[in-house]
Amino acid sequence: MVQFDDTLKTLKERAVRAAGFSHSPYSRFPVGAAVISAAGQVYAGCNVENASFGLTQCAERAALTAAVADGVLPGSLQTLLIYTPGNQAHAPCGACRQVMQELMAPDGLVVSCCDGDERRAWSRSDYLPDPFSADVLLNRPPPKR
Ligand code: THU
Repeated sequence: MVQFDDTLKTLKERAVRAAGFSHSPYSRFPVGAAVISAAGQVYAGCNVENASFGLTQCAERAALTAAVADGVLPGSLQTLLIYTPGNQAHAPCGACRQVMQELMAPDGLVVSCCDGDERRAWSRSDYLPDPFSADVLLNRPPPKR
């Protein structure tokens, strides 16, 4: 089980705080996330739902995109922590895994925790084996008309 060092403790504090601001009246499933840059800056996010359900944004993507908006280089984020209240550490959804694999560092770590002792952790190859990635989009020939 992953040990909670000072970085993970800080990330958990920030994720717990963000989960407290979650807008999740439909699912009643608040989620907080926090990610740290190589420079030590922490960015937090929570899930924000909408009455038009498909517009919901997950906590993980909110934290990751906040980091990018502050100038953090995509592909450099080292650790992302997910927090859900209760006694179960939840797995991130597939959409967030796809975004993580583009924005997190290749050797980055994703950790999930809760109020209890349960913790889960994934490396990139664990959270998204065989990803769809940007290299297949490079050097494409122009479309034929
Ligand atoms: N949710 C997240 O914020 N992160 C995940 O990885 C899974 C799901 C949110 C979306 C929605 O607001 C609620 O949890 C239930 O799906």
